[in-house]
Amino acid sequence: MATAADNFTPKRDFTLRTMTEADIAAVIRIERESYAFPWTEGIFRDCLRVGYFCRVVEAGGETLGYAVMSCGAGEAHILNLCVRPDARCAGIGRRLISQVLNHARAAGMDDAFLEVRPSNTIAAHLYQSLGFAQVGTRRGYYQAADGREDALVLRLPLRDFQMPG
Ligand SMILES: CC(C)(COP(=O)(O)OP(=O)(O)OC[C@H]1O[C@@H](n2cnc3c(N)ncnc32)[C@H](O)[C@@H]1OP(=O)(O)O)[C@@H](O)C(=O)NCCC(=O)NCCS
Repeated sequence: MATAADNFTPKRDFTLRTMTEADIAAVIRIERESYAFPWTEGIFRDCLRVGYFCRVVEAGGETLGYAVMSCGAGEAHILNLCVRPDARCAGIGRRLISQVLNHARAAGMDDAFLEVRPSNTIAAHLYQSLGFAQVGTRRGYYQAADGREDALVLRLPLRDFQMPG
């Protein structure tokens, strides 16, 4: 079956831009397809309202992914990173997080932090390949089908660090 990933060349044919309110309907569809416990529309609206760094990826007029990051007191927190299921494995996630991290560094942040489920080996692999390392664990941080799941807390020092993309 053809997927969106078949229709563009990785790292070239998609564009990244600032998320607006008009993107939320498409974003929430991807969010619900991607997470067992998705963010609500209200959370995305709040992120835009408070001025978090919110980006979307699009190709051919379709939204393929998004990222949300807060910055403050020298620390960037990547709060969401998500690619539409049929557009994964085409380099979009790596490009998206690279741009987000470049923005954090340019904004003067010293470190980037994020949380990831230990069961999310694909995302954890991506983060580790970028230089993130585990600095802690938040016990029972996430909702899970059978109760709660811990979060691994990962950190990437941003000073003198140039991300590709
Ligand atoms: C994590 C996620 C954003 C990655 O997006 P993506 O566009 O598929 O990622 P990329 O194509 O840029 O691949 C990045 C790396 O992830 C790994 N990866 C991606 N898909 C993989 C798969 N199906 N199996 C194994 N590794 C995979 C590869 O190591 C790849 O590294 P490479 O560039 O050296 O090949 C995407 O899987 C996703 O949206 N998942 C659901 C939401 C989620 O879990 N977000 C993270 C919350 S912490």
